[in-house]
Amino acid sequence: MFKINENYLKLPGSYLFSRIGKRVGAFQEAHPDRRVIRLGIGDVTQPIVPAILDSLHGAVDEMGSSESFHGYAPDLGYDFLRNAIVENDYRMRGCEISADEIFVSDGAKCDCSNIQEIFSQDNRIAVCDPVYPVYVDSNVMAGRAGEYNSVTETFSDVIYMPCTLENDFCPDLPKEAPDIIYLCYPNNPTGATLTRDQLQVWVDYANRVGAVIIYDAAYEAYISEEDVPHSIYECKGARTCAIELHSFSKNAGFTGMRLGYTVVPKDLKSGDVMLHSLWARRHGTKYNGAPYIIQRAGEAVYSHEGKAQLRDQVNYYMKNAKVIYEGLKDAGYTVTGGVNAPYIWMKTPDGLSSWEFFDKLLEEVSVVGTPGSGFGPSGEGYFRLTAFGSYENTVEAVERIKKM
Ligand code: MLT
Repeated sequence: MFKINENYLKLPGSYLFSRIGKRVGAFQEAHPDRRVIRLGIGDVTQPIVPAILDSLHGAVDEMGSSESFHGYAPDLGYDFLRNAIVENDYRMRGCEISADEIFVSDGAKCDCSNIQEIFSQDNRIAVCDPVYPVYVDSNVMAGRAGEYNSVTETFSDVIYMPCTLENDFCPDLPKEAPDIIYLCYPNNPTGATLTRDQLQVWVDYANRVGAVIIYDAAYEAYISEEDVPHSIYECKGARTCAIELHSFSKNAGFTGMRLGYTVVPKDLKSGDVMLHSLWARRHGTKYNGAPYIIQRAGEAVYSHEGKAQLRDQVNYYMKNAKVIYEGLKDAGYTVTGGVNAPYIWMKTPDGLSSWEFFDKLLEEVSVVGTPGSGFGPSGEGYFRLTAFGSYENTVEAVERIKKM
């Protein structure tokens, strides 16, 4: 008789964005005449830029001829892409990362949930609270999170590091030493950042206690301030304690194309064992590589034209962030984020819970955001809006909220 993985039964409810999608779908069905503006999930809306499209078209044509056809991609990614990544994302920033430490994948969401597989079951994880739910949920599925407490909405074996207005959404070092620390900066959902000096404190701490930092840098393209690091490898000692995750979704609009990469430095070891070898083994066994055409599209992200066009796209979204931030601030809301990140994090008004404010916004002005409590208990009383909508919709959404 087969048995299921009972850890799945510990997961409360459905995945946050599926739950929101269902709720909005039901609302839209009941009110077909209302034009709903979606600033909930951080999905991009602007088209793929011309430099990337050209590269895609060229790669598609290559697949149509036997001389230039490509079958399975190399396990860890094509060299043309890994070299472009190393040059642009690391060497140009003074970080010491080599191409064979880059593992190309179909996105950071998969990597951040799969990476826990190479760690022992009894490792203790620490997460910011609020947090991107995938870090916790994937560890629950693996049986590493303990039991769920529906009153505190926490798992018994997870170390939660509260990030609130009081600490500027930057966690204090945990009191109990974790084995694996998840950090995402610029942060999803709060839009907060760590300066290089603040991140150095975490790197030093991880090296001191023998922990690994899984650093999610999915939003680094949105950084506008000098002292905010684009990579954890800008910090001294990070090669011995950090894995870094990158996505092409937010910097280049690949949410529907799927491409990302993970960096595992060869200096990161448990005794004599390199985590690099374990991840290479896992990747080679369970993954057949991102498609050739998508990796060629990824290469174009680093071309001269690609960089210029993507800079404009990031600026477009950051103009939206400014509209939301300033509009809501003028209207008297407490808002943060939106300067180095495409997320604006606001306090819900009048003591409303996150979900109460979600319902109010949807019912009264047909605007969708994301309830802060969906990211963890310290997110209660907060609400996230994304800057990834169109400019016109963003302006209209803010006008509608202001009239409430
Ligand atoms: C979010 O809205 O938090 C993100 O878009 C989700 C994701 O990147 O998977």
